[in-house]
Amino acid sequence: MRALITGVCGQDGYYLSEHLLSLGYEVIGTRRGNEESVDVPRGTKLVYGDINDAACIADLMMDYQPDEVYNLAALTHVGDSFKSVSAVMQTNAVGAANVIHAAHQIEAKLYQASTSELFGSTPPPQNEAAMMHPRSPYGIAKLAAYWMVRHYRERGMHATNGILFNHESLRRGGGFVTQKIARGVASIVAGKARTLVLGNLDAKRDWGHAKDYCRAMHLLMQHPADDYVIASGEMHTVREFCDMAFSHVGLDYRDYVEVSKEFFRPTEVNALCGDASKSRNLGWKPEISFKDMVFEMMDHALETK
Ligand code: GDD
Repeated sequence: MRALITGVCGQDGYYLSEHLLSLGYEVIGTRRGNEESVDVPRGTKLVYGDINDAACIADLMMDYQPDEVYNLAALTHVGDSFKSVSAVMQTNAVGAANVIHAAHQIEAKLYQASTSELFGSTPPPQNEAAMMHPRSPYGIAKLAAYWMVRHYRERGMHATNGILFNHESLRRGGGFVTQKIARGVASIVAGKARTLVLGNLDAKRDWGHAKDYCRAMHLLMQHPADDYVIASGEMHTVREFCDMAFSHVGLDYRDYVEVSKEFFRPTEVNALCGDASKSRNLGWKPEISFKDMVFEMMDHALETK
């Protein structure tokens, strides 16, 4: 089996490629830059690819003829999307359409990285049938891609939306709140910072481990094409995350965390908590607990500071 992963250089690309390679897949992953060193699992074949360039994506499909295509490439920071509306629409909606269309042309199976941001203001628990009411340009662009997948599915394509809730790991980018907290605590412990400045501490998220969620991506592709929620079903506030991370090193977050309007969003998704019963019925379940995930991120941040 041969898989093509767009966005292989991100957190999810890493874990998905690692998982597919362990199953004996040949993995082709796209990168845009010319960086000397990119961190991908050994065995991943890196090729140039930009999902915003329809011809480039079509050529890649023709050249490599993958059996499965995983579209993970996207602008992923929700907060930034308020400041880059056109770019996020271009990459997350039009770029996704380029990939879906090109995969359809060669009759490959398609996985689209959909997101719990689609639910936006719909209160938890959210499952596949919950109303979609995104609250950011990021979520709106992802909703267009979600519908494009459904559209091609109606035309007979094996196209699946994985509606993934927040998923983290030691590979998480530093702009997301979990990694910002982990690295922030490590900086304080190392004496390099006095405080950690955050935004809305009352936001509630359903956080799982990226490794568990990337395993789900492949599993979903082995089942009938559909929309599937992947979530832990547990909800915590940003404040609770801070409490656990600071307590891990014997500190009280209230002595170090400051709140600044700078990190609030114009419109916020207040509460996400997924009901993943449909995926669990296929045999998927998360194996890494919230606490273990926080401690893994913390230990890694402490070691690397
Ligand atoms: N980034 C960030 N920085 N978020 C903060 C901060 C801060 O300083 N302070 C509070 N928050 C709050 C945000 O307002 C949000 O409510 C919550 O922490 C989580 O923010 P992020 O970690 O940036 O993630 P996200 O929930 O917006 O989006 C992530 O999950 C989605 C799935 O639900 C991203 O991975 C998306 O790409 C993904 O689709």
